[in-house]
Amino acid sequence: MNYKIDLSDLLFKALDGKLDKNKLVGLIEKPKYSHLGDLAFPCFELSKHYRKPPQTIAIELANKIESPLFEKVEATGGYLNVFLNKQSVSNVVLGSVVTNKNHYGTNNVGNGDVVTIDFSSPNIAKPFSMGHLRSTVIGNAIALLLDKCGYKPVRINYLGDWGTQFGKLIVAYKLWGNEQTVRENPIKELLKLYVKFHEEAEIDPQLNEKGREWFKKLEEADDEAISLWEWFRGESLKEFSKVYDLLGIRFDSYNGEAFYNDKMEDVVEILQEKNLLETSDGAKVVTFNEKSLPPCLIKKSDGTTLYATRDLAAAIYRQNTYNFSKSLYIVGNEQSLHFKQFFSVLEKMGYQWHNGLAHIPFGMILKDGKKMSTRKGKVVLLEEVLNEAIQLAEQNILAKNPNLESKKEVANAVGTGAIIFHDLKHFRQNDIEFSLQDMLKFEGETGPYVQYTHARACSLLRKGQYEEDVDSIHVVDQDHYTWDVIINLMKFPEVIEKATESYDPSQIAKYLIELSKSFNKYYSSVRILNDEDHKHSRLSLVHSITIVLKEGLRLLGIKAPEEM
Ligand code: ARG
Repeated sequence: MNYKIDLSDLLFKALDGKLDKNKLVGLIEKPKYSHLGDLAFPCFELSKHYRKPPQTIAIELANKIESPLFEKVEATGGYLNVFLNKQSVSNVVLGSVVTNKNHYGTNNVGNGDVVTIDFSSPNIAKPFSMGHLRSTVIGNAIALLLDKCGYKPVRINYLGDWGTQFGKLIVAYKLWGNEQTVRENPIKELLKLYVKFHEEAEIDPQLNEKGREWFKKLEEADDEAISLWEWFRGESLKEFSKVYDLLGIRFDSYNGEAFYNDKMEDVVEILQEKNLLETSDGAKVVTFNEKSLPPCLIKKSDGTTLYATRDLAAAIYRQNTYNFSKSLYIVGNEQSLHFKQFFSVLEKMGYQWHNGLAHIPFGMILKDGKKMSTRKGKVVLLEEVLNEAIQLAEQNILAKNPNLESKKEVANAVGTGAIIFHDLKHFRQNDIEFSLQDMLKFEGETGPYVQYTHARACSLLRKGQYEEDVDSIHVVDQDHYTWDVIINLMKFPEVIEKATESYDPSQIAKYLIELSKSFNKYYSSVRILNDEDHKHSRLSLVHSITIVLKEGLRLLGIKAPEEM
């Protein structure tokens, strides 16, 4: 149902095969104004090949090209403008949506290839911050999109459960902690200890030394260190699970940094064998020819390992375990250098599969233009934000639809929908200013607006007692409200493909807003239920809307209640 392909086939024939089809498809545009048609083919490039003015070529093509799919083909200036046959296209589009249902737009570009996705990956003993929200919702949407396109996504939560900070935390706990208070309120208390450690260490740098010592003990499996660490980790996981449950997100693996503690020595050995390790101030590093790339630190002078060492071990483990064709890391912009470095180390180690590794970066969530920092205790807790959104949704329901049956469930879907959509509608590379007010908006270009549009369409189907009948779909309306909706519905498969290819869920979010807007205009202009002759075809359009909105929201990790 990609009419660009149909048009390019016809162009190909009409042009005696002089330009290749892919090139032709690439040239086809969507005209700026709808009075210029649905597709436009600029003839300027051809003019060089044929040594004729583009206007002449456009006229010649307009005379040659004919198809039942096209109502009219017109030469305007150097362009060939094509008007689709509204009636036949509408029938094909609605027929396809209603027949395929939630599989509409599914493709098999991925051909079963495995893609590992490292996402969310919060740090143990720290609260789940807004910063990790981005990785969580972007990663989840990318996993859902990849699945839709025939890949096999493997969802990995690479918990930050190892590193010097645990040495520091153990020191802080031993100095100032109290078992009772930590048990009562683990995350808040541990954060307090962590913040206090950094304040105190500014006055007494000796503390940092102690922190390193305790991390070394942890790496050497000292009993006391391990048991404190296990306790902190367990409590943190419980907290994180609450957030994942609220968001409806699951993982295939929770193998975090600690999992690789006993797998790093092998990496260091291989590096040694391949003569890639150099010594610098007592530390082991890998250097690069590229001048802009600083050396990658593999082992500190005290023998402890680093973030990069663990990532190397994890990448190799993942390749051996999952045999991935691609391995994605959904991590903020600020870690770009780290990824460049350890990807380059893998390349130097001679692993062909390093080509499949990709850092999918995203912008920061800023507060008053600045990064939020855990060290200074400046964090906003995601769980609190989510709960606030859910409460607000509940109040809305009580005010507008107090008799609604599953209030709790709907409030949950709408509250989390608002937060998730707010994040995903921004192109991931942009920074987002943190604004609770914006996140909790339910009107305008928001998740709840799309959800509400879906619920409104569902209620129309109930009122009209719609019964599905694919064979009798026969769209007669040719007004531009109907046509706008049809054109938008038709685009869905292409939007999915593009969003997946560029790992960009914001394309889906923006699409859902456009589709909702076009439907809401349709809804207020076309009398859907009042005309018995047209009722079925109009309701099949409404049905198609419910299918595509629901599936689009699902791809973003958002639920679509049938009533709100
Ligand atoms: N835990 C890290 C952080 O919060 C993110 C981990 C990203 N994944 C990775 N393989 N390095 O900054």
